[in-house]
Amino acid sequence: MTKRFYITTAIDYVNGQPHLGHAYEKVVTDVIARGRRWMGEEVFFLTGLDEHGQKVQQAALAEGKTPQAYCDELAASWKAFAAKLNLTNNDFVRTTEPRHKAVIQAILSKLHANGQFYKAEYKGFYSAKEETFLTEKDRRPDGTFDPMWGEVTELAEENYYFRLSAHQQWLIDYIEANPDFVYPSYRRNEVLGFLKNNRLEDLCISRPAARLSWGIPLPFDPGYVTYVWFDALSNYISVPAALGDPAAAGPLGLGAPASGQPLQSSLWPADAHVIGKDIVKFHAVYWPIMLKAMGAALPRQILAHGWWQKDGAKMSKSLGNVVDPVAVIDEWGVDAFRYYVVRELDLGPDGNWTDAGFQARYSAELANGLGNLVNRSLSMLKRYRGGVTPPRSDELAEAAAKAAAGVVENLRGHRLQGALEDIWALVNRANQYVDQTAPFKLAKDPAQAARLGEVLYNLAETCRVLAVLLTPFLPDSAARIHRQLGLAAPPKHAGEAGWGVLAEGHVIGEVSPLFPRKDAPAAAPAQSQPGKRS
Ligand code: MSP
Repeated sequence: MTKRFYITTAIDYVNGQPHLGHAYEKVVTDVIARGRRWMGEEVFFLTGLDEHGQKVQQAALAEGKTPQAYCDELAASWKAFAAKLNLTNNDFVRTTEPRHKAVIQAILSKLHANGQFYKAEYKGFYSAKEETFLTEKDRRPDGTFDPMWGEVTELAEENYYFRLSAHQQWLIDYIEANPDFVYPSYRRNEVLGFLKNNRLEDLCISRPAARLSWGIPLPFDPGYVTYVWFDALSNYISVPAALGDPAAAGPLGLGAPASGQPLQSSLWPADAHVIGKDIVKFHAVYWPIMLKAMGAALPRQILAHGWWQKDGAKMSKSLGNVVDPVAVIDEWGVDAFRYYVVRELDLGPDGNWTDAGFQARYSAELANGLGNLVNRSLSMLKRYRGGVTPPRSDELAEAAAKAAAGVVENLRGHRLQGALEDIWALVNRANQYVDQTAPFKLAKDPAQAARLGEVLYNLAETCRVLAVLLTPFLPDSAARIHRQLGLAAPPKHAGEAGWGVLAEGHVIGEVSPLFPRKDAPAAAPAQSQPGKRS
């Protein structure tokens, strides 16, 4: 059985509105997923929702709904959000689905049978907001707790614990032996520092159902539901297992699903879990230990991205500074949004959204850069040659090949920002070429007809190569460039970036601006006058 490149996002808490941070993680994951398909790999991209827990139970109650009805309504808008971002996810998991619950119960049963859990009494502090137990270490010097924990109560209750400490040493050894397991390396170093300097405390994996009923019941003790993080992390393997992937279902003693198509290629282990920096410990410590205890292989890589701020401040509803990706997309288009977030922020460090920064990149790099290049190149081909492709010429072939090689290499290393820089180096080179060769002057001199043909070929072919290179990042724009070039199907594979595909005599399609300028109407003279760059 062949293995697909399997990539996931974190699953979002269903309560709350999707914002820039959620959108960023999904777009980055989608670019990597599309990039792998573009480079010829079979890919499975999973995203979804984390629907259990106290916060959801309380929010549903406050609205007078059952938790399930509350989740169903919100799930519809989260799915619409994924579509709005133009994601190519192959599945969408909800932790309230029967297929997920069944696998979680199989995992819990297996770990329980293997003696990984024990029951013990806990007395201490509990944050309902974060659904976590706190210790003396979490108290501030004045004895209070950080407001991030919300209301902290003292309680005494019996729960099930997962023996984590027994797993500490092999995990340290594993992370040391696999330097790419956590990316970027500074996050890996943080994880190693944490593991080497702390004794791992056993993890409480249950909550009494009397206090919290909105969760997956422990199969071996109906008085409890499982801890929301245990439930949530397992989504990454519950979907492959439910689909009948032997590498996921096998260790859990689950067979192929009773109905549905047999899986053609296996998914587990995941190749990349894309997550935010705040949940690295769950993914790089708890999750590998859970998998090892289950007898399943570990994921190949955890890609931890940074957090976005708005105008240098943390986004928060109370400050009213939350960037709404849907509003941005409605005004500027999905590709403008995708472009900005990937170009502005490399995978790793924190980023800062400013409206001025977004507009500056839109105007300089999309409208005046890529948009203007495609518009004037194809408009001139229409005007001077009736849209008919002249004979092949290779003046820009080297620049195109360099960009293509750079994009492939950067995509392989998850350097998405670097890949866009390579593409824009070609955009800028081609725009410069227009200025240097001045086709609008050549057109006035009949003796320069052959030279004009060369220039027009180089420009049209560069636009085609750009469409291919943009495919993982700005899929709509790539398809539109192709259509304007008179190529019906959108570009698909990296290999199409090779120079010289447009054949002499090929007739291009209708030309229209890709990124209309916002400060002037789309039909302003600068766009319609061929050759002129403003
Ligand atoms: N439900 C958990 C994840 C479980 S994964 C098994 C969760 N959900 S969340 O909705 O709070 O966050 C989802 C993802 O969005 C996380 O990876 C988080 O880091 C990311 N972001 C949330 N706010 C963000 C920013 N301001 N900037 C960038 N990403 C951020 O955690």
